[in-house]
Amino acid sequence: MANDRVEKIKRLQKEKDVVILAHYYVEGEVQAVADYVGDSFYLSKLATTVEQKNILFCGVNFMGESAKILSPHKQVIMVDESADCPMAHMVTVEKIKEVKEQVEDVAVVCYVNSTAQIKAVSDVCVTSSNAVKVVKNIPQKNIFFVPDENLGRFVAQKLPEKNFIFHDGYCHVHKNITLSDVKKAKEEHKKALVLTHPECTEDVTQISDFVGSTSEIIDYATNSDCEEFIICTETGVLYELQQKNPQKKFYEAGQKQICDNMKKITLEKVEQVLKNMEPQVHMSEQRIKDASMPLKRMLELAK
Ligand code: 13P
Ligand code: SF4
Repeated sequence: MANDRVEKIKRLQKEKDVVILAHYYVEGEVQAVADYVGDSFYLSKLATTVEQKNILFCGVNFMGESAKILSPHKQVIMVDESADCPMAHMVTVEKIKEVKEQVEDVAVVCYVNSTAQIKAVSDVCVTSSNAVKVVKNIPQKNIFFVPDENLGRFVAQKLPEKNFIFHDGYCHVHKNITLSDVKKAKEEHKKALVLTHPECTEDVTQISDFVGSTSEIIDYATNSDCEEFIICTETGVLYELQQKNPQKKFYEAGQKQICDNMKKITLEKVEQVLKNMEPQVHMSEQRIKDASMPLKRMLELAK
């Protein structure tokens, strides 16, 4: 049955000239059917270079929006419009305006996990894999980092020459991975290295052996001589980790590392939306124009 569905998906894709992009957090069977799987940075770069006229995005709304902003002439289809990232809504345009008015010469640095509306009033976007590099290359000393406080603090630690103002946004999935969860996992797996996403809280990143984006975690584990790892990010990455490293062992730190929104993306829905080519990402020309500036600046500064 699953194989039948995969065949149908492949046939529809070809017929309708669709490329399937998937984030590492979606279910393994969805990653397996995708043409490209990656972290937020990789997928946003890819959206600008793929040949197909249509992009089917297996991820949450802000990812599809970024693809549309960077490739406005393509149709971007989402698998489930209700798959939305709560953190993307944790800062307001008013808050950004307020800080811009109060602080002189401040750059608003916006994590891609934010709405197009927020990107449109920001100076530059970052992802977890390029944030340090991009912020380092910004001329302004004052940085208002939105919406994720944990990623902001992680970047700030690496760039003491900058003056950071943080916002109180967070990812509930990563925040739920607690210090005691990680300590317990370390007790149970004494030889394992701890690999952590920077959306985790500071106490967790501090006791980790490596902190990086999803693709950086996968690269680190793949290139390491170590055989066991405790993974502190959404469990979807375990699929690619295990694919690339069948002989290595990967453990979760507790049982709460699941993003319900990413898990709304199922093979059944992929097949359905390919039939209808709906729902699509729609945005006004003005919004696309305003939000593309910080995204393009990110791609430039991250080179
Ligand atoms: P990346 O490591 O891909 O930047 O992912 C973070 C994330 O939370 C995506 O939702
Ligand atoms: Fe948003 Fe967190 Fe889910 Fe990523 S894992 S989509 S940041 S809720």
